[in-house]
Amino acid sequence: MPFDTIIRGGTIATAADTFACEIGIRDGKIAALGHDLGAAETVIDATDRLVLPGGIDSHVHFAQPSGDGIVMADGFATGTRSAAFGGNTTVLPFCLQEKGQTLREALRRYHALADGECHVDVAFHLIVTDPTEQVLGQELPALVEDGYTSLKVFMTYEGLALSDRELLETMSVARETGAVLMVHAENFDAIRFLTDRLERAGNTAPRFHATSRPIPVEREATHRAISLSELIDVPIMIVHVSNRGAMEEIRRAQQRGLKVMGETCPQYLVLTEKDLDRLNMEGSKYVCSPPPRDLASQQACWEGLQQNVFSVFSSDHCPFRYDDPHGKLAPRGRTSFRWVPNGIPGVATRLPILFSEGVVKGRIDLNRFVALTATNHAKIYGLYPRKGTIAVGSDADIVLWDPKRKVTIRHDLIHDGADYTPYEGLDITGWPVLTMVRGRVVIDDGVLVGEKGYGTYLPRAKPAARPDASQR
Ligand code: URP
Ligand code: ZN
Ligand code: ZN
Repeated sequence: MPFDTIIRGGTIATAADTFACEIGIRDGKIAALGHDLGAAETVIDATDRLVLPGGIDSHVHFAQPSGDGIVMADGFATGTRSAAFGGNTTVLPFCLQEKGQTLREALRRYHALADGECHVDVAFHLIVTDPTEQVLGQELPALVEDGYTSLKVFMTYEGLALSDRELLETMSVARETGAVLMVHAENFDAIRFLTDRLERAGNTAPRFHATSRPIPVEREATHRAISLSELIDVPIMIVHVSNRGAMEEIRRAQQRGLKVMGETCPQYLVLTEKDLDRLNMEGSKYVCSPPPRDLASQQACWEGLQQNVFSVFSSDHCPFRYDDPHGKLAPRGRTSFRWVPNGIPGVATRLPILFSEGVVKGRIDLNRFVALTATNHAKIYGLYPRKGTIAVGSDADIVLWDPKRKVTIRHDLIHDGADYTPYEGLDITGWPVLTMVRGRVVIDDGVLVGEKGYGTYLPRAKPAARPDASQR
């Protein structure tokens, strides 16, 4: 038989086009797109289904060290399982360098944790927290050549934030090596000042997490990151943008011809800071940084997605259990929002939320959906065209969608290691019903059929081209 699998009868959408044809798959790759492809060992009937490139989530945290007594809810097995249920075929978790650690030591730990555990394919971004001469001069350039072609830096968080000088030094290495630099833009000193003041006044409930990092804190840091990157002439990606101020800073930079990209996430489209004000400690379920804002900020994030200011839509999946002394209800978190574990789960709900709120409600079209959730991630982070599209020669990473299926989000659909979803009760139209990674079905209509360990590590190229409007 010429093909192992044929997907027949569906409507295919890529970032560029929507068309009807069959997909012939051989040895895990797309071998043919056409009509009447004949027979195969397996034929998948995709009638009334959309056939899309598998989702790529380029911003997830698994098994990340998270402070005294705090344990992240997902390692690689549950994190990638949840990703697959949500229609993802590749994820890019972060490898956090702890202070005093070399990047290679950090990578050894993450590879050991991921090896044999993953349900979908993975690649690592580095997080540089200790940019010593050795790290920047020797390790980082060698690692970029080895396929770790992106890194994140923090402008906030105790023990993780870089000074402006350190940001500039790190940006210079990103420029020299061609690595993509992701920036968490919030002003550390302003947050510390506001946090101390709130605590002194006894304002310690979870909702004050949002008060301690208001929009100007994010807007200022975004502006500063852009200005520093302009000095170095290096492309940057401002991650998890939550509001108009930061979005407009990015847009202005793009209009001036700077190589600045942006990312936003589901929490900034469908949650608000009111969610942090739920009874007792329930608000801690929504504590993440930047915090969800208000309806006007949601509207600004939609504009960013519609008007090509943002290139990627990621989950920033950073899961902690709620009813757990090692999670959101850790004893110290009850004394102040400062100590509530920071981050929320979302790798399984990213695609359904954008499909339902974006495509079904007419805010973005299907091709833009594919660009924002798969193709642009692959292009920007050096995985294209192996990943992120449906084309002859690409990996057969494919998701079948039932565009009409109505689902109310419940945690039992998520299959992660957390015990809640911040999107509980949200009504969704459109659901991923089959997830295929390199030609093998991993999820079939809500049932896990893939095996742990099938997901593989992906060394990455440097992005082929610098970001331009076509990549946004
Ligand atoms: O709240 C968040 N976003 N936690 C994850 C860490 C980060 O900043 O991405
Ligand atoms: Zn961040
Ligand atoms: Zn993050």
